[in-house]
Amino acid sequence: MIRKFGLVLLLLTLPASAADTPDMRGSPFAMQGGEAVYRGVCQGCHMADAKGASGAAAYPALAANPRLAEAGYVLSMVMDGHKGMPPFRGHFTNGQVADVINFVRSHFGNRYRDKVTEAEVQALR
Ligand code: HEC
Repeated sequence: MIRKFGLVLLLLTLPASAADTPDMRGSPFAMQGGEAVYRGVCQGCHMADAKGASGAAAYPALAANPRLAEAGYVLSMVMDGHKGMPPFRGHFTNGQVADVINFVRSHFGNRYRDKVTEAEVQALR
């Protein structure tokens, strides 16, 4: 129940532009594939071009971000969150976590070739 309540809070606090996208109205965590997860969930804060935003809160750019070189860092951020970055471990399958990480680390000017595997995600469960 606590996790579900947290999800509702997360959806309510997402910027309006994200709440207006079709993915956010349906079952947002049912999407498959790294790009679909990014478009449905991450871009609400990190923006469509992954360049982040600042305003009421600061959302760091994921585009051309050298901190994404360390796959384990990205994995821990997505699983457990940090400050304004919500934890997603309760909302994504292992495959969704691996796919979205592999997507952001190989797009938006990032060229990291090593992949996060579902087994590595499972090891953090
Ligand atoms: C509700 C807004 C929100 C959503 C949704 C969100 N993030 Fe974040 N994210 C943040 C904030 C805020 C930070 C900065 C956290 C901090 O200060 O440590 C962050 C930080 C990060 C970082 C670390 C960046 C750095 O330079 O250290 C990564 C990687 C990241 N997010 C990936 C993702 C991915 C992948 C998704 C989708 C699964 C996602 N985020 C969804 C708000 C969000």
